[in-house]
Amino acid sequence: MDVGTQQMYEDIKNVLKKHRQSHLLAFWDQLDTVQRQRLLSQIRQLDLAKIDGWVADYVKKPSSDAIRGDLLPAPFYSLRPSDNKQKRKYAEAVKLGQHLIRQGKVAAFVVAGGQGTRLGFDGPKGDFPISPVKNKTLFQIFAEYIAAASKKYNTVCPWYIMTSPLNRARTEEIFRSNNYYGLDEKDVFIFQQGTIPNFSPDGKVLLADKANLSSSPDGHGGSLKALYQSGAIDDMKRRGVEFISYFQVDNPLINIFDPLFIGLHALDKAEMSSRAVIKTGPYEKVGNFCLADGRLNIIEYSDLPDELAERQNPDGSLTFKLGSIAIHIINRAFAERLNTDGFSLPLHRALKKILHIDEHGEPVEPNGVKLETFVFDAVPLASKSIILETLRPEEFAPTKNAAGVDSVVTARKMMVARAASWLESAGLTVPKKPDGSIDCVIEIAPGFALGKEDIKEKLNQIPQINPDDEIYLT
Ligand code: UD1
Repeated sequence: MDVGTQQMYEDIKNVLKKHRQSHLLAFWDQLDTVQRQRLLSQIRQLDLAKIDGWVADYVKKPSSDAIRGDLLPAPFYSLRPSDNKQKRKYAEAVKLGQHLIRQGKVAAFVVAGGQGTRLGFDGPKGDFPISPVKNKTLFQIFAEYIAAASKKYNTVCPWYIMTSPLNRARTEEIFRSNNYYGLDEKDVFIFQQGTIPNFSPDGKVLLADKANLSSSPDGHGGSLKALYQSGAIDDMKRRGVEFISYFQVDNPLINIFDPLFIGLHALDKAEMSSRAVIKTGPYEKVGNFCLADGRLNIIEYSDLPDELAERQNPDGSLTFKLGSIAIHIINRAFAERLNTDGFSLPLHRALKKILHIDEHGEPVEPNGVKLETFVFDAVPLASKSIILETLRPEEFAPTKNAAGVDSVVTARKMMVARAASWLESAGLTVPKKPDGSIDCVIEIAPGFALGKEDIKEKLNQIPQINPDDEIYLT
């Protein structure tokens, strides 16, 4: 070992001892020069004082989220305006939203750091084939939507894609090998989120192997830092982008550029806004919109006490009926301000099976502690925030599982159902079985229609649909 590395080793050893993380150098004698340098450089990147705080506040505490009982339901804009005044406001908002999109002030932003593990899919979730006729992947559907919107509004809508260290290279390869699905490569900005070390339940940073720390992506909350650190915010500034349309990679029904949502957000001078659905029941696995001390918060289903989840209004409806579908408009200036103010989002703790090595250097997979941040914890930091209701069948088909609830099967069904409802709203007939279910498979390419309003202009291109048909409208 050269003198420099030896000195660095001694220094780091002392610091680790102070922070009770000495085990990270347990296999030092078995490492070659390159491995030693790699390990030292990973350890030097740890903020050990901060880690001490995390261990005390999150890792060793089974539940760090103290939910207060005095929460109130959040006010929201209903899908349909409540009176004439609001009707005029919605009409004005739609015009403003269209104007902002046309001016190139709105960018698409998908958080795609997650893997398709729950789908039983080995790869970035965005590469999962989902469309009912053509089997297009989630990435392709979003790309075609963005291309179609750019054409419709005669503009260029840039697309920012957050990946994680686990899937960045593969995601870039997928985009390259698909020629960016017809988009211009310079309008697609792929970047990577940060990581947080994994811990044993007693607060030790885990080793993935003898020369590498074990870490996990820092959650979608990491997107707010990563947008800034990757240069995406600067890129947006150069392009004149002011609004970031945030969505999750698992929702093929996403309406990325909704003029009403964008317009209401801008008219109300909000900094971070959200879309909501009416929950299917008290325990639907979505975030809950609540007011705490007058500030809007989104509380994850797993953190909402049963009493609040089940609380009812006099008419029997749920008091906390608004579910978050992880669709937001975030002001570019808000994301920038958070970063220059040195913000940090709260951490959430999850016990997960994490492959790492034990004190003998043997691979083991018992529970470890994973810490992550959630983007919706930035909502209370916004000076103003609005919520706009949306119709679940129009805009929310979470694709989380291979089968059952929120699955590939339900998402495909919903894609067909939405296509059918668009055709029916234009006066066309869609074959149905005696039980009312749809008796054909329909896929509408984003280039054909971005919403039901686009169908009417294309009636002459739509064939008659017979039972059992597979129809692809492009
Ligand atoms: C999420 C929300 C929930 C919301 C629901 C709607 C959380 C904790 N919960 O649930 O409030 O109602 O979706 O479908 O978010 N991601 C990254 N990097 C990460 C982690 C996740 O980019 O480090 C991305 C994923 O690729 C995905 C999204 O964030 O696009 C959501 O992640 P996921 O773990 O699937 O969240 P859910 O628990 O399903």
